[in-house]
Amino acid sequence: MKTSVVVMAVAAVTLVASVATLVLKPAAPDTGPVLRPDDAKVLAQGERLYATHCAACHGARLEGQPAWRVRGPDGLLPAPPHDASGHTWHHPDEVLFRITKHGVASVAGDPGYKSSMPAYDGQLSDAEIVAVLSWIKAQWPAAVRQKHDQINAQAARSSGN
Ligand code: HEC
Repeated sequence: MKTSVVVMAVAAVTLVASVATLVLKPAAPDTGPVLRPDDAKVLAQGERLYATHCAACHGARLEGQPAWRVRGPDGLLPAPPHDASGHTWHHPDEVLFRITKHGVASVAGDPGYKSSMPAYDGQLSDAEIVAVLSWIKAQWPAAVRQKHDQINAQAARSSGN
């Protein structure tokens, strides 16, 4: 009798702990690098995902759309390049993840910001988003990847980690 009460108590604590983990766990770590540009398996998956979901706008060679800095007649920006000539690499992993999952408005500080960039929440899993962004990073020249590593380190420091 006594043992079963203890077992139940332990089970209850475990349940509460795992529910708390589920609720409190952020969608992605909000500090430190999450991309895996050196993992061949992740990159193979990321390359396929990029071709299917991103290349139509961002270009098969990550070149973006023409005149990508100039808003079109609809007031929307064209898709920027994801290669070294764009500013994708200026953002730490966490911001790139958030843009891809929740859309540009989620980082623009303006919930009403209009953009043609889709939000992939519900369409791509977190792991798939990490894979496609990892593949994009793996295409950058070594010097740009290094700068991006520094941007990640800087972002981790400024968030107090
Ligand atoms: C329908 C066209 C379209 C598709 C498809 C698309 N994007 Fe975009 N993306 C855009 C546009 C347009 C912007 C610029 C939006 C703005 O600032 O208003 C953008 C911006 C971004 C940015 C921010 C870049 C920066 O320099 O700040 C990231 C990151 C991004 N897209 C990732 C992706 C990924 C990853 C995919 C595929 C999973 C994807 N996009 C698919 C149109 C698209």
